[in-house]
Amino acid sequence: MSTPLNSADLTNLARRMPKAELHLHLEGSLEPEMLFALAERNGIALRFGSVDEVRAAYEFDDLQSFLDIYYEGASALVTQRDFHDLTMAYLHRAAADNVVHVEPFFDPQTHTARGVAFDTVLGGIVSALREGEQTLGITWRLIMCFLRDLSAEEALATLEQALPYRDVITGVGLDSAEVGNPPEKFATVFEQALAHGFLTVSHAGEEGSADDVRRTLDVLHVSRIDHGVHALDDAQVVARLVRERIPLTVCPLSNVKLKVFSAMEEHNLREMLDAGLVATVNSDDPAYFGGYVGDNYAAVIKALDVTRDELEALALNSFEASFLSPAQKAARSDDVRTFFAR
Ligand code: ADE
Ligand code: ZN
Repeated sequence: MSTPLNSADLTNLARRMPKAELHLHLEGSLEPEMLFALAERNGIALRFGSVDEVRAAYEFDDLQSFLDIYYEGASALVTQRDFHDLTMAYLHRAAADNVVHVEPFFDPQTHTARGVAFDTVLGGIVSALREGEQTLGITWRLIMCFLRDLSAEEALATLEQALPYRDVITGVGLDSAEVGNPPEKFATVFEQALAHGFLTVSHAGEEGSADDVRRTLDVLHVSRIDHGVHALDDAQVVARLVRERIPLTVCPLSNVKLKVFSAMEEHNLREMLDAGLVATVNSDDPAYFGGYVGDNYAAVIKALDVTRDELEALALNSFEASFLSPAQKAARSDDVRTFFAR
């Protein structure tokens, strides 16, 4: 019999275990220090006087109050070098938590609407992902998100822009304001994306309901659901997610910061694990929500008594849920089992 692990041991284990991160908005990894550096480099005036002032503004009532400041921050990103530096900084933070595979999101419309070219955004991100693979050993698949508060026509135009880059963009997703922008609005866009060979994911059941999750599965044919915490309000939706092994990319610190749950103790990750869902732990927008993936694990270990076996299951889930090939998934899963066998 091994001695039981305390919360500090488990947190340490969670940080060191090999894992994938599947729900991370690159624009949401823009730390205030980099925001100021980029604003200065690009001659952009900020309404904040200091890094502390920026951090103090990161108090949110709901998703929209966060999105407002998130889009404001993204306006400091202008050149290809900016997108490269942003992505590289994220990869270094991920590497520190032993993240070995990433599937980050980017929001091209946030930038093209300001006159920043699609190629500038993508070029900077991809050059950093390639550098990170070389220097940090982090493999990657990239996911382009459509902003669901914009029109389906604008999403279609963005899909057109992505077509020449099928080799570096694996999937398309849907983010931004969920309520009032249902999956049906993007049925045609996702149909076309699938026909062009993109995989699909979507935020659903973050502020939306279990029925939004169900319709996202039916209408958008997604491989996984981003957040999905409200799926647990409907036993039939849960049963379907379990049966079809549709993963949920859960972001605990985000959910508490955006008041989806009143406290981490109220988060339903424990119910997800007990139900046999393919749940994963991710950071969403770490610069805004108080931490990277290791911090998210630390928070759920503390509040929800996540066990050693559950950490192993979460690490295995992160690879099962990924867009790696079956052989790559098997190899990464072996790494997890080897790590926990030690
Ligand atoms: N864009 C960035 N973070 C998001 C979130 N948590 N939900 C919806 N859209 C987002
Ligand atoms: Zn998100």
